[in-house]
Amino acid sequence: MAHKHTAAEDIVQLILEDHKPLKKLIKIMKDTDKDLEERKAAFEQFAPLLVTHAKPEEQSLYVYMKKDEDTREEALEGDVEHGLADQMLEEAKRTDDEDLWTARVKVLAELVEHHIEEEEEELLPEFKKNSEPEERRKLGHIFLRLKDKIEVEEAVQEVEDEMAAHAPH
Ligand SMILES: [Fe+2]
Ligand SMILES: [Fe+2]
Repeated sequence: MAHKHTAAEDIVQLILEDHKPLKKLIKIMKDTDKDLEERKAAFEQFAPLLVTHAKPEEQSLYVYMKKDEDTREEALEGDVEHGLADQMLEEAKRTDDEDLWTARVKVLAELVEHHIEEEEEELLPEFKKNSEPEERRKLGHIFLRLKDKIEVEEAVQEVEDEMAAHAPH
């Protein structure tokens, strides 16, 4: 899962790229006209992608923005929304009742959709306007390093969960 470290490491660009698959999956997850199976499959893909996007974003861009008086509040709002999404994601994973699962996943999808919209329409353009390309490349580099690290951690967690599921009780 290593990422190619090219000159085009602008963090804004990297975040926009990361949002693309999330947005596609969100559309399916919130569309209750679609079969449960299709929405479940989308959710299975969405869950790890969200985590491996949100954590590096928090730990690079948001951390950076929180140091600046002018952007602190916006970054904190992002943190709060990430926290909520995380909580809702875990709840959905533990939900067996199909209707409740559908409700939880739909609300989660709408929350993340709104969050991504705000980032793309406000936070990222403003950040781009008030930063230098060199800063954005440095942050992009950090973002990719964090993403690699979190992807490995997630993969290890998956193996551990699987082993725990198969262990004799
Ligand atoms: Fe975010
Ligand atoms: Fe994002």
